[in-house]
Amino acid sequence: MPARRLTRKAEAWFARHQRALPWRASYDPYRIWVSEVMLQQTRMGVVLPRYQDFVTRFPTLRTLAAAGEEEVTAAWSGLGYYRRARMLRQGAAAVVERFAGRLPDDVSVLQTISGIGRYTAGAIASIAYDQPAPIVDGNIMRITARLFAINAPLRSTGLARQAWKRAEELVKAAKSPRMFNQALMEIGALICRPKNPHCGECPLRRDCAAFARGRVERYPRKAQSKPTRSMRIPIYLIVDGKGRVLMRRESGSLMYGMFHLPHGNGLLIRGSRLAVRGSRRVGEFRHAVANRRITFEVFLTLRTTKREPRTTRWIHPRQLSELPHPSYVRKALQLAGMTG
Ligand code: ADE
Repeated sequence: MPARRLTRKAEAWFARHQRALPWRASYDPYRIWVSEVMLQQTRMGVVLPRYQDFVTRFPTLRTLAAAGEEEVTAAWSGLGYYRRARMLRQGAAAVVERFAGRLPDDVSVLQTISGIGRYTAGAIASIAYDQPAPIVDGNIMRITARLFAINAPLRSTGLARQAWKRAEELVKAAKSPRMFNQALMEIGALICRPKNPHCGECPLRRDCAAFARGRVERYPRKAQSKPTRSMRIPIYLIVDGKGRVLMRRESGSLMYGMFHLPHGNGLLIRGSRLAVRGSRRVGEFRHAVANRRITFEVFLTLRTTKREPRTTRWIHPRQLSELPHPSYVRKALQLAGMTG
């Protein structure tokens, strides 16, 4: 049976070629959860040092559940998409309350926990508990599209549906779901890359329909890409006599609870009554988020008013690492020579 042969090859390859990643030392379910949530939208090189810091600070699910939200989002700094950190903490609290602190091993039960979707549930069930649950992320969509020459465009629901179906068939044929799912992830990261895949090193090339057709890079088919939006945003470093800068806590859903630098056009800063006069332009830098290309223009000004709005706080650059903040903040401080 081809599925059986394919999974055995992937598992044997993984046993020999896997990277030594910190969560692979114990397969502790909580650590698998943390690592998978971090890796969902952030690259491995960025995740590794931050994962270590995070599990040192919150070594168990219970310590995370008991921590304050600000503490958790601060430990998430640099990883982006901070909603993940808040959901992780809430999810940990739910596991303590409903499951006496032990993560369930069943995908449907796992998906009743806040922040755990189909992918994360599959990853915990298979990687931590060795259950035959499928996982599909961008890498696995690409691999299955190639292995089975699936003719559906990138990011389409058709591709997702077929990838989940194939991933399920395969993981059920695996000897070890833990090894097999990680093998697919690893092959996706190291070999079956979007551009210039290393097919010569791939253990699955003889089972790969796209390889047989000599068209690996044509799968999955490209979708029409969204145009990138360019924008300029002025940001203000409002400094007081002690070298502290004025920051604002956002309440909007995307950046909830994060400390931002005041920004906006003109003299008034959006959302506050603060007037900025006599500011000096320090320079500008670029920052890319999703399909936006932002040029931040940095202005430096001394404290102008006696009273600031309640949502603002004076923060010394030294304190920044303890507070949740998006990464452009540090870039702006660096540009003005104010870090540390
Ligand atoms: N990326 C996301 N999850 C992964 C895993 N378990 N192994 C390798 N790369 C990953």
